[in-house]
Amino acid sequence: MVSSGWIEVGSLDDFKESNKKVVRIKDNLEILLIKVGNSVFAIENKCTHDDKPLSDGKIIDEKIIECIYHGARFDIETGRAMRMPAVTPVNIYKSKIEDNKIYIQIE
Ligand code: FES
Repeated sequence: MVSSGWIEVGSLDDFKESNKKVVRIKDNLEILLIKVGNSVFAIENKCTHDDKPLSDGKIIDEKIIECIYHGARFDIETGRAMRMPAVTPVNIYKSKIEDNKIYIQIE
């Protein structure tokens, strides 16, 4: 844990085998971390169509995640819903990397 709302959620070493990692922040909040290049994006691990885990989905063009359940797509940087059946954005969280460690900010 660090000050000012930043929570340590892992390190870059966690992505050696996959570009996705799920962290449970509290009972009703799981965050999906997605590593793209030298950045890590943080989105809620819940599709806004039917609450299925986005961590089961696939990354397209390093900027979109596609839910495998019914095909909704979201921009991993903005959370914007980009394809039906989802119309509501997914929650996104600020992230930063310091000394190989990953932090996200939960408001
Ligand atoms: S639960 Fe994701 S598209 Fe339906």
